[in-house]
Amino acid sequence: MTTKTREEINQTEKDYWNEGKLDRSKIKKLRRHAFFYSYKRERKIINKLLKDFNNKDVLEIGSYEWTFWFNKDTKPKSLTCINISEKELENGKQHAEKQSFPVNHYLMDANNLSFEDQSFDIVFGGAILHHLDIEKTIGHIHRVLKPGGKIIFIEPLNMNPLYKIYRKLNPQERTPDEHALVFKDFKIIRNKFTFDHYFFDFFSVAFGFISLKIFGDKNYDNWINKLGYNLDVFFSKIPFLHPLFARVIIFGSKK
Ligand SMILES: C[S@@+](CC[C@H](N)C(=O)[O-])C[C@H]1O[C@@H](n2cnc3c(N)ncnc32)[C@H](O)[C@@H]1O
Repeated sequence: MTTKTREEINQTEKDYWNEGKLDRSKIKKLRRHAFFYSYKRERKIINKLLKDFNNKDVLEIGSYEWTFWFNKDTKPKSLTCINISEKELENGKQHAEKQSFPVNHYLMDANNLSFEDQSFDIVFGGAILHHLDIEKTIGHIHRVLKPGGKIIFIEPLNMNPLYKIYRKLNPQERTPDEHALVFKDFKIIRNKFTFDHYFFDFFSVAFGFISLKIFGDKNYDNWINKLGYNLDVFFSKIPFLHPLFARVIIFGSKK
């Protein structure tokens, strides 16, 4: 097996996102159903973390997750967004026009940030680190953050054997080189940041599947879905069960 260079991986990522090559239609309905309560929990957690953004220089790795995250009270001093894909960057620019704070966009490789040292107070992103060389990117994020600077990332995980099988069977949902996080990646982040986490979505996937079959699409608010979600909240507090979960929020500070 030949190993791809980072330039080749970047080119593939760029092509996939510019040309909209992914097909997630199969999983869309289940996701919407099964994650109904966990999206609400995620929203609450993000709202809490967003309080730190006001009057801060903020960098998004990726380019328009902020349009989903920010609420009406979020007013950074500046927001900078980068992406390797022109199309993804363009999507963000359209949202930026309506904002009261300055938003800057750069076509840039996240593995090799060209910002000066200590330029930002906060670096964040959604479903992005797993498209990158974690070690390189985390090194750059650490470098461009001011002392005490913060990180927040929401990422998919790839430790549960069932999810691994699902991923293998459904390559159309992912870019070829992406790698949802495993504990090795947490170790890399821990070298440069102190952080805590929230794990999401194990029972809620199975319960969501059953609930979707019984109650049908868009009838999310039911006892089966709620039970799956509550089991997740409870069991996500037990560290050795973390590999079973599908997603994680990581939030922490520069060492
Ligand atoms: C799953 S999507 C997440 C999008 C994210 N939520 C956002 O709003 O930008 C992954 C994103 O990573 C970007 N990407 C992939 N490789 C990159 C790289 N080397 N540098 C910067 N962005 C990259 C893709 O273009 C795509 O926008």
